[in-house]
Amino acid sequence: MTYRDIPKVELHLHLEGAAPPAFIRGLAQEKGKDLSAIFTADGGYAYRDFAHFLQVYESACTVLQTPEDFHRLTRAVLEESAAQGVVYCEAFLSPDFCGGGDLAAWRDYLAAIEEAADAAEARLGITLRGIVTCIRHFGPDKARPAARCAVETQGRFLRGFGMAGAETVGRPGDFAWAFDCAREAGMPLTCHAGEWGGAEMVADTLRDLAPARVGHGVNAITDPALVETLAERGTVLEVCPGSNVFLGATGGWPDHPIKRLRDAGVKVTVSTDDPPFFHTTMTREYEMLAQTFGWDAADFAALNQVALEAAFCDAETRAAVARKLEAA
Ligand code: ADE
Ligand code: ZN
Repeated sequence: MTYRDIPKVELHLHLEGAAPPAFIRGLAQEKGKDLSAIFTADGGYAYRDFAHFLQVYESACTVLQTPEDFHRLTRAVLEESAAQGVVYCEAFLSPDFCGGGDLAAWRDYLAAIEEAADAAEARLGITLRGIVTCIRHFGPDKARPAARCAVETQGRFLRGFGMAGAETVGRPGDFAWAFDCAREAGMPLTCHAGEWGGAEMVADTLRDLAPARVGHGVNAITDPALVETLAERGTVLEVCPGSNVFLGATGGWPDHPIKRLRDAGVKVTVSTDDPPFFHTTMTREYEMLAQTFGWDAADFAALNQVALEAAFCDAETRAAVARKLEAA
């Protein structure tokens, strides 16, 4: 069995960030928009650092204009994920990029994404669920309508609420209203922290927003007491090693904290974040973990079990995915 063939559960994928560059280039051409500045000569995404990555990401989003564009995007992304052996995936969806936070518009975008997801499930056997994500550097005033979109459309497909974006902007507590709004509506929560922020950012996020899962969280490694707290509470980290290494958020693969966090009893999972931006795939993540840390089929089965238990889907979906993992 190759790493590609291992059935995989991925919990941390930004839908727009997973857009194949050729897809965005094609859409730009169709719409007569010049996006040449965001592509390298060989057709990949071009950016210098994390701040520039966020700008390029948002430029790519300018050609994702209609629900039909998001339908096509979802299909393209799920075809690639299914080809990497992903059987269950949770994607971050942002009302900010889907109608600017307007609830009626958001419903149309979400319906298109869900329809594409259902079609992909029937055709490719991959299950997608959505997590509404506000964008930290857009500020708390944008987070509030995003939370309202999440609360009003939660159901079989739309499962949780979270936050991505630049951790250097504001404090986690600035977003407490949005997180409390989703929590009070019964939605599970996840929040990016400890990717660029230090261990104190992870601690502040746990204190002020109390998410069940943390996006990245890898910088917690510098605070042994915090690592112990994460392990005791069972907080799940959505670790994206290839993203961290490519962006320089951590050291190289041999220094990546995922193994030390796992050895300390923290629930870690493995995801790609924005795969074409970071020249990675779920298969490559597994290959690099095997090569770097000697992780084998039993380790990957255990990681997928942790991820499935931490998934925000309903019990019926979890049981169906569990059968796929067991069948392998
Ligand atoms: N949005 C897309 N990718 C991201 C990342 N790695 N960190 C924060 N926000 C993001
Ligand atoms: Zn992310």
